Amino acid sequence: MQGTGMNDKINIAIDGPAGAGKSTVARMVANKLQYIYVDTGAMYRAVTWLMLKKGISSENSEKVLQIAQNMVIELIPHENGQKVLLNGEDVTPYIRSNHVSSEVSRYAQIEDLRTQLVDLQRQMALRKGVVMDGRDIGTTVLPDAEVKIFMTASVKERALRRFNELSEAEGVSLEQLELDIATRDRLDEEREVSPLRCAKDAIVLDTTQMTIQEVVDTILSYCISQMDGEK
Ligand code: DC
Repeated sequence: MQGTGMNDKINIAIDGPAGAGKSTVARMVANKLQYIYVDTGAMYRAVTWLMLKKGISSENSEKVLQIAQNMVIELIPHENGQKVLLNGEDVTPYIRSNHVSSEVSRYAQIEDLRTQLVDLQRQMALRKGVVMDGRDIGTTVLPDAEVKIFMTASVKERALRRFNELSEAEGVSLEQLELDIATRDRLDEEREVSPLRCAKDAIVLDTTQMTIQEVVDTILSYCISQMDGEK
């Protein structure tokens, strides 16, 4: 395959189930390459947070869409990752709560909401130089991404990672997190629209036994070989 050249930017799609370490890794890869990091899960989380705040159930897709159509989501690069602004309000501190985590897959099943967010995600990647993480990036959002990674890890390991991220104030047990993650995997894998699926041309990385740095280095060397045209 012909290379893209070191100076030509590429797009990098990173997909995988909840808690596989995608966002940490994607952010580090983006920093290293001086690319823009786009956390698509944060977009679904921001919508979910807004709907929960307004008391609108995921069953009421008409109402969800009506509100979503007038909503402005912005991802602003920040030293600790990115800030998520929803209608100008910084919602970053709220979108990772366990309440949002346990509801988000239900809202993410609404087809027209996905269409709206996918359009926005594609616009963000138009000029290339983007590392985008999610569930359907390599399959649906950016099927032409030059590098596609599918990151996995065992349910136990992913629950442990999330447990270490949550504050004690949330009072969630490790066992509960394992159950939540298994449920979320099932909802993400079984939904009809854009389910969590590994793209045929993705590289699968099982990170259960890998350090973050090892994962980042593996992805970077693949990206560089792709840019050099060695592949
Ligand atoms: O990556 P995350 O855990 O922050 O994602 C939150 C939820 O959003 C996840 O349960 C599934 C959904 N999601 C999705 O359906 N499609 C994406 N591209 C990203 C996330």
